[in-house]
Amino acid sequence: MSTVLVTGGNGYIGSHTVISLYENGYDVIIADNLSNSKMEVQNRLEKICGKRFKFYNVDCCDEAALEKVFSENKIDSVIHFAGLKAVGESVRMPLEYYSNNINSMITVCKLMKKYGVNNLVFSSSATVYGMSEDVPFTEESPLGVCTNPYGWTKWMLEQILRDFAKAEPSMKVCLLRYFNPVGAHESGLIGEDPRGIPNNLFPYISKVAGGTLEKLTVFGDDYDTPDGTCIRDYIHVVDLADGHVKAIRYLESHDAGVSLFNLGTGKGTSVKEAVAAFEKACGHEINHVFGPRRPGDIAVCYASTEKAEKELGFVAKYGIDEMCSSCWKWQTMNPEGLSDD
Ligand code: WQD
Repeated sequence: MSTVLVTGGNGYIGSHTVISLYENGYDVIIADNLSNSKMEVQNRLEKICGKRFKFYNVDCCDEAALEKVFSENKIDSVIHFAGLKAVGESVRMPLEYYSNNINSMITVCKLMKKYGVNNLVFSSSATVYGMSEDVPFTEESPLGVCTNPYGWTKWMLEQILRDFAKAEPSMKVCLLRYFNPVGAHESGLIGEDPRGIPNNLFPYISKVAGGTLEKLTVFGDDYDTPDGTCIRDYIHVVDLADGHVKAIRYLESHDAGVSLFNLGTGKGTSVKEAVAAFEKACGHEINHVFGPRRPGDIAVCYASTEKAEKELGFVAKYGIDEMCSSCWKWQTMNPEGLSDD
């Protein structure tokens, strides 16, 4: 059985990917420092999969601690999710973002080289396309000027990994550029569980729908779009997890080098449309007002999915209705998120 180390595997996308890997016959080891997730996720994963995954409470910047994961296990591939990811926070704390996100990836690469682990999937982001309005974004679209340090860390890490793969001819690196991950596992046992007030649209809408936040502010309704609100490519987190399994299989069956894929649906949904879809899922109105634009937002962002479909065999299965209904189930089952035991 092939073993995949999932760094940040206790987090939102990481935990959903653990389930998909397990359901596709992989053994999984999780390394996570619990800086943005709770240990309760491990109990939920055990309930869903019927198995307790090997878990290391380690910071990927701590080389000695992380080396134990490599020396104690035979790892065949790594999916690297671990990293800080809040856009607004990255503007306030750039040094923490650059040191944590860059150093954690470099530490993982050094240990992969030392232990002869050649397959790496890296969690990148559509944010690397910057402020471009030339949509849909293809993998050949030029990298843009990122609007925040979080985005720059993804931009820089893609370059670092290209240089690493050039220097290490046995390395196989797959860069996955996510669009907007939303939704939750069908069980409602795991989902997006941000600490504090959510920055992103869906967790915010979800908490307004659940009554834990008073109202949603729509950041701008004067954009050059059909209904004046921003358009994004929301992708169900379970589809995203499936894309990671396909990326591992791609690395197992292809030669060394760097591959790059967008993971999106190719469909754009406006903020107003997302609110309407969520109202349908929860059965009541979402209290919302219209406010000024949020700095750094672009009007329209959605993926070209051709390359992922042709080369990875990846096609998103779920639409906005399933994204909303799964998000709502997670919210109603966990109104205050997971306990921080
Ligand atoms: C979506 C739309 C907002 C909140 C970010 C990161 C990106 C990726 C996904 C990690 C925008 C509007 C939002 C609110 C609103 N993260 N909105 N009221 O900004 O497209 O992407 O998350 O990889 O890197 O940049 O997602 O959910 O924050 O915003 O009107 O309270 O919803 O203006 O148009 P975004 P988002």
